[in-house]
Amino acid sequence: MCGIVGAIAEKNIVPVLLDGLFCLEYRGYDSAGLVITNNGLQRLRTAGRVAELEKKVVEQKTNGFAGIAHTRWATHGEPSERNAHPHLSSAESKIAVVHNGIIENHEIMRKRLQVEGFRFDSDTDTEVIAHLIAFNLRKSDGLLRAVSLAISELQGAYAIAVMEENHPERIIVARNGAPLLLGLGEQGNYAASDASALLKTTRSMIYLEDGDIAELYKDRYAIFECRNGDLSQEIKRPVHHSDLTSDAIDMGPYAHFMQKEIFEQPSAVANTLEMVLNAQAILPGLFGSAAERIFSQTKGLLILACGTSYHAGLVARYWLETIAGLPCTVEIASEYRYRNPIADAHTLVVGISQSGETADTLAAMSYAKALGHLHSLAICNVAESALIRQTDLRFLTRAGPEIGVASTKAFTTQLASLLLLTIVLAKMRNKLSSEKETAVIAALRHLPAALQSTLQIEPEVQEWAQRFSEKRHALFLGRGVHYPIAMEGALKLKEISYIHAEAYASGELKHGPLALVDREMPVVAIAPNDQLLSKLKSNLQEVHARGGELYVFADADTQIEESNQLHVIRLAEHAGILSPILHTLPLQLLAYHVALVKGTDVDKPRNLAKAVTVE
Ligand code: G6P
Repeated sequence: MCGIVGAIAEKNIVPVLLDGLFCLEYRGYDSAGLVITNNGLQRLRTAGRVAELEKKVVEQKTNGFAGIAHTRWATHGEPSERNAHPHLSSAESKIAVVHNGIIENHEIMRKRLQVEGFRFDSDTDTEVIAHLIAFNLRKSDGLLRAVSLAISELQGAYAIAVMEENHPERIIVARNGAPLLLGLGEQGNYAASDASALLKTTRSMIYLEDGDIAELYKDRYAIFECRNGDLSQEIKRPVHHSDLTSDAIDMGPYAHFMQKEIFEQPSAVANTLEMVLNAQAILPGLFGSAAERIFSQTKGLLILACGTSYHAGLVARYWLETIAGLPCTVEIASEYRYRNPIADAHTLVVGISQSGETADTLAAMSYAKALGHLHSLAICNVAESALIRQTDLRFLTRAGPEIGVASTKAFTTQLASLLLLTIVLAKMRNKLSSEKETAVIAALRHLPAALQSTLQIEPEVQEWAQRFSEKRHALFLGRGVHYPIAMEGALKLKEISYIHAEAYASGELKHGPLALVDREMPVVAIAPNDQLLSKLKSNLQEVHARGGELYVFADADTQIEESNQLHVIRLAEHAGILSPILHTLPLQLLAYHVALVKGTDVDKPRNLAKAVTVE
């Protein structure tokens, strides 16, 4: 993954680099580093967070007019200062490189470069790029040409920024399969992995395309296409004005971003539904101007996503089948992209992604298109993301920036959006009467308030969290449309509290997991008052009878009563089709409070990153 920032300006750019890295820590945070030009290339690196790098910068009073910086999520080589970027190569002219992505042929290249006399100081694939550029610089007429020759030999995904000691007046950047944009300022030019990193400096952005290579000077820039080492004439790419606000990235009165984001859900969902809350009808145009035409040809859906977004897709499948009568397949993007699935032109491909930059989701979407699916839709939280830019139709969840690595408000806004999609498709297929549509709109109008009142259960959840924090494993049970919610609850618990948690469809309990049940294995169950309640109650009995300890989130009218080893927290009355959205919140709160008791780093859990831009 990793985050990249580059800056070249008439002023000291070190604050721009550090601010940018802080914003990009969601992409990785196990080490950080920068190189600036100030009488030669000066490099500072640290293991750990960007804050550690900032301390070094302050101690050493680092400043300069040009620099590149990096925050890392380790792929090749342990997280350490030695493996932190930038990586250097010192041939005739010293080269510094930062890199996001994975170079798949790095081992062969490493051997080749060692034969040429290059010495490697790290275990990273990135160092290969630095030496390869230095090697090509010997035989070419400048850094731009050397970089283009070097990248023509790289296999894999990358976004890179490069500086050369002998020419400190210029930074070169290139991308192929990893995001990179340019920021155009009045007194300088910049590059970064995403727009948030540059917002304090500029809002004029150019999104580079795969195969682009660009030169940045303090007062000008030039973009070229690079194919097999050949450079095109200079090309133009459109300049966008970013509407992102930087104040949404503040924590406010909350202790963690995750807590803030859990409590923002009523407003995030309200913002996402804004266009329909005062409307009489839910219309296809919400998904784009071509939506009506495309939806009228849609015979089924293929949902592609990863992580929490995949769980949103699994919930949507129940809605799409039940309400719209449409077949729906939901696939983990990293699996889909390496299978040989049978494509159907009129199966609409839906990519769900908070970031819109998840490498596997993007690749799976392109693969589906190549296989013959005609149309695609993005459900995404970032207006300027790669996913939004590559689909025919789009719906923007308006959750606002989500910073906590564990996704919360992105998930519930995805669910709200997917329900809108279901309603639109159901109507177009004459599966939903206007009375029913009016009832759904009324339920959606009430949803923010229902979410708000669900959050009131926090003190009860806090009590449970104390007991949970002593456990090493947990089981989560759900049935029907709430099974994916159980999966999401288990994911939340494991990612931030490091307690091993597994979700099962309750009917599967006696096919294996029941063998694990004892007092040390808390069993969390989602118990909505729906048509599967009596079956779920039987499953709970199976656990209870075997001495298991049950923690049940039950709708008020389920008549599941507290007893020895059966603990119940009650939610409001059954929320109908919106029930999975409401039942998500208690599970988020449980994970959050268990993590607090355990003292883990809630917003930046170990080994993870927010945007997974490598496969
Ligand atoms: C990472 C994040 C998860 C997220 C997943 C998919 O694993 O930590 O929270 O669900 O990526 O990300 P996307 O941005 O595509 O939704």
